[in-house]
Amino acid sequence: MPRVLSGIQPTADSFHLGNYLGALRNWVAMQQEYQTFFSIVDLHAITVPTDPDELRNRTRLSYAQLLAFGLDPERSCIFVQSQVPQHAELAWVMQCLTGFGEASRMTQFKDKSAREGGESASVGLFTYPVLQAADILLYQADRVPVGEDQRQHLELTRDLSQRFNGRYGNTFVVPEAYIVKDTARVVDLQNPLAKMSKSLPAGCLFLLDDPKAMEKKIKRAVTDSVGEVHFDPVNQPGVSNLLVVVAAMSDRSVADVTDEFGGGGYGPLKQAAADVILPFARDFADRVEALMADRAELDRIMDDGARRARNVAEVTIADVYDKVGLRRSK
Ligand code: TRP
Repeated sequence: MPRVLSGIQPTADSFHLGNYLGALRNWVAMQQEYQTFFSIVDLHAITVPTDPDELRNRTRLSYAQLLAFGLDPERSCIFVQSQVPQHAELAWVMQCLTGFGEASRMTQFKDKSAREGGESASVGLFTYPVLQAADILLYQADRVPVGEDQRQHLELTRDLSQRFNGRYGNTFVVPEAYIVKDTARVVDLQNPLAKMSKSLPAGCLFLLDDPKAMEKKIKRAVTDSVGEVHFDPVNQPGVSNLLVVVAAMSDRSVADVTDEFGGGGYGPLKQAAADVILPFARDFADRVEALMADRAELDRIMDDGARRARNVAEVTIADVYDKVGLRRSK
């Protein structure tokens, strides 16, 4: 079976509907067809200033949420990145293969460092994409499911793997990006021109939020002045988003949902969205709560995931050390 690896940062108390429909739901499905590795990338989280207790809590809570979505620790290797020291080790080797100019061209770094105040952004933020490359290459992943915004990081990963293979001999699988299709791209409920994001909380549906708050956000979702439902993402982005969400949450096609609500008013469509999202969120929150309540059991699952990840990662890093001329002591 081909291997898949992906990662997500533990930077919020709750994943949101966009995380689920745009990525995590697909991770769950991929468990059937691939050998799957999924990571909570906490080393990436500390590239910007992070409160230690908040990071600790969010890492556990994020892990519990992955399980609650349906990632199965028997089928998938699910691990916390910092518990697998090989990530940092390979990242260093890869940093020494990355050009300063090459890293400087990463657009996400430019955007994020501007937000972090330019010169005061960390060197870790600068080398973030190289750590991401190490995440992927350690497991010899064939495919990497990511959003469109990660395409450049995947290109860098491919370049670095080919460079290493060229310089030191064949070592890494050259991974392919697996860009999740746009149909599940959920936009912000207040500003339908932006992707749903935790950094815009007013229009973001956090799945562990209070149900009343979620319902309010759905009912107040921005629509338009057309006055009736059509699937028209350009002229009616808010309404089209609701159609997409209802379709995705009920495993129907957008065409089918549009047949049902097309030509009608916005109220019934919003009600339908609430009717599919709220019960899902309630079940999800219950599962997360149960997982968080048994601390010892969650620790056991996390430790087991990390141990399995280390076993795979060690094979790669031992080979890398040997090829580069570093002696790996036992
Ligand atoms: N940079 C990714 C994101 O922001 C997260 C990530 C870190 C990742 N390491 C990864 C994704 C490895 C895929 C593979 O979404």
